[in-house]
Amino acid sequence: MTLWTFIGRQWTKLPPPPKGEYLKGKVVLLTGANSGIGLESLKHFSTASPALLILAVRSIEVSERILAELQSLHTDLKGIVISLNLDDLDSIKSFPSRLKDKGIDKIDILINNAGINPGNDDKPAEMTKDGYEKTFQTNVLSPILLTFTLLSFLKQSSKPKVIFLGSGLHATCNNQPIIEAIDQKKSIIKIFNDQNSFDNKQIYGRSKLLLHMFTRQLIEMLNDISIITVSPGLAITNLGRDFKFSIGFIIFGAPFMFLNARSAEKGARNLTSAVANAEQSYDYWAECGPSYSESSWLSSGQGIKAIKAFYTEMIDEIEKITPGITKDLA
Ligand SMILES: NC(=O)c1ccc[n+]([C@@H]2O[C@H](COP(=O)([O-])OP(=O)(O)OC[C@H]3O[C@@H](n4cnc5c(N)ncnc54)[C@H](OP(=O)(O)O)[C@@H]3O)[C@@H](O)[C@H]2O)c1
Repeated sequence: MTLWTFIGRQWTKLPPPPKGEYLKGKVVLLTGANSGIGLESLKHFSTASPALLILAVRSIEVSERILAELQSLHTDLKGIVISLNLDDLDSIKSFPSRLKDKGIDKIDILINNAGINPGNDDKPAEMTKDGYEKTFQTNVLSPILLTFTLLSFLKQSSKPKVIFLGSGLHATCNNQPIIEAIDQKKSIIKIFNDQNSFDNKQIYGRSKLLLHMFTRQLIEMLNDISIITVSPGLAITNLGRDFKFSIGFIIFGAPFMFLNARSAEKGARNLTSAVANAEQSYDYWAECGPSYSESSWLSSGQGIKAIKAFYTEMIDEIEKITPGITKDLA
């Protein structure tokens, strides 16, 4: 993506948020519902007459407060807060039982919104208790595992939809480690979880590239579910909480960001428009409509090979975590 494409996208006038009862009868599960794009989307959803909003979060108290505030504004709003920590695979594996304990057996719309950006410095890799690099686990492995963990709930819906949050940075990050892995027939997962070759500044964009690669292939495999990767654009949220204010960042990065970034509410419109309007799978949704990835590499022979290799690796990986989890794939 060129700088001008990025700026052009950021300054595109977005349509207003969808209106009406577009969630009537729908059970919606939203991860990361307590902050930024998730929180703004939640506010929109609460006006759209959902059957139930499930806030799947790790910040329980703050989420319960948010839900209570929304319920005071919309007195018939049904919502529930259920704990989910993407840093902890056990929390994902046990999530269905927490849903069932609350009498929930169907999900119409699963929104994998939660994510992290570990910042702009050179800090070393942080590993989770499960042994994965933290950004890889939070942004790639866990949303994929959660989606497969909840397939039986989605299959109860007459029109299931799964949304992943992508980023334009998938097209601008340095994808050399993936290219090398493919050329040398090495494991992409191993490379991304190798602490010695970890690059903190690159990991966020690369994690979104991997997620995009996986979901492109997933669309081919799960054709009875609408799968959409939404790019919210650069939006002012808490995602930059780990950014360090170096002199370079203060002089160049921060002014550029604040000049071109959207509000969290505008970023959320990309998500809410996909929830309300997308009737099929789209491998990229941006500026509130079907769009395209700026990565020409993804459509090249090498990119297609990488997509298939990474998809296969991830399927094997989640099978190791939860044996039998992918049995419903055609
Ligand atoms: N903002 C942007 O410019 C931008 C651009 C492209 C894509 N995105 C994507 O949009 C999504 C939402 O981000 P945002 O900008 O709204 O950032 P945000 O304000 O920081 O919100 C991130 C949410 O994810 C949750 N989360 C993080 N790690 C988690 C974990 N281990 N388990 C459960 N929840 C976890 C956070 O919960 P806590 O509050 O408990 O930490 C928070 O609710 C992310 O996937 C992000 O990559 C954002």
